[in-house]
Amino acid sequence: MAKILVTGGCGYIGSHTIVDLIENGFTVISVDDNSRSTPYPVSGIEQITGRRIKNYNVDLKNFDETRAVFQENPDIAGVIHFAAYKAVGESVIEPLMYYENNLFGLINLLKCVQEFSVPYFVFSSSCTVYGNPDDIPVTESSPVKKAESPYGATKQMGEEILSNFSARANTKSILLRYFNPVGAHPTCFIGEQPVGKPQNLVPVITQTAIGKLQKVTVFGNDYPTRDGSCVRDYIHVCDIAHAHTLALQYLMDQRNKTNCDIFNLGTGNGVTVLEAIQAFEKVSGVKLNYEIGPRRAGDVVAIYANNDLARKELGWEIKYDLSDMMRTAWAWEKKIKAAEEKVKSN
Ligand code: UD1
Repeated sequence: MAKILVTGGCGYIGSHTIVDLIENGFTVISVDDNSRSTPYPVSGIEQITGRRIKNYNVDLKNFDETRAVFQENPDIAGVIHFAAYKAVGESVIEPLMYYENNLFGLINLLKCVQEFSVPYFVFSSSCTVYGNPDDIPVTESSPVKKAESPYGATKQMGEEILSNFSARANTKSILLRYFNPVGAHPTCFIGEQPVGKPQNLVPVITQTAIGKLQKVTVFGNDYPTRDGSCVRDYIHVCDIAHAHTLALQYLMDQRNKTNCDIFNLGTGNGVTVLEAIQAFEKVSGVKLNYEIGPRRAGDVVAIYANNDLARKELGWEIKYDLSDMMRTAWAWEKKIKAAEEKVKSN
């Protein structure tokens, strides 16, 4: 029962990963200051797995408090680092806040990893590092382009920091480049809970369908794609979560090729915004109120993954398709609404 420290364990991908780790025999502790999350996923995780994990309400920017977590848990066998800010638009407005949070947090964590000799580290990266790619699908060796936003820059710098760190320290790392994680756990005990107005497409779709938002604005239909809207590689959050368990097992089995291996986590299918809307309408039976609007600054035209490496090396298999992604996202949105109505009526 190796003990894994998950940072951002109350967040969207973090909470789903904790469930997958527990189901695969790991013991988990979490560090999450709930600055961009709520503590509720701890209960959701318990309802799914029967285990109550300990969450340390610690800001990774605070080195002493971060170090105290390691002191209290000298048996940490691996770290999976999710905790970061991730809103592209906000990062343009508040660049220093993004660099400070995403990079200081990582550096403090790595100082502890070094001091306490933690052998394995998995980093949440993003397909954003490829920028607007010249060729799709992108492989792990596709060029890393200049970041389109401070958020993207923090992911690129995070990758660089880890690659330098792993070349020197006794820690083996993996960089996981996520494409577009969507959907919710099929039990609906955990899912995506954007704080404030959602920015990402699928929460915008489900919140519109439930009546919280008036409409979905499709950001542009004049791109050089099959229907004019942008192409992305949507992937179910549980498939992403399981890849983290496989990544840790891969490191623990010493199967890594370098001290800092990289894997794309996408399905390999490019889906347009309009196709995503249609897929949602089909599984939900809800006619969505949407309109075509102007392009959003900083959006890439089209990107999807070549995921051969993750399938071959990690033994990763994708279990959920686009309908499953939309079905679980919709079930989760309905569950949130039911819970909110219950609170109101009490
Ligand atoms: C972006 C980042 C990704 C990051 C993620 C986290 C890039 C290229 N990607 O993903 O790295 O992890 O944010 O937030 O920087 N759309 C609409 N209407 C909406 C919302 C979205 O049409 O109301 C469209 C967008 O134009 C895009 C697609 O839907 O084509 C997906 O958008 P979104 O869910 O925001 O994700 P990305 O921008 O792809």
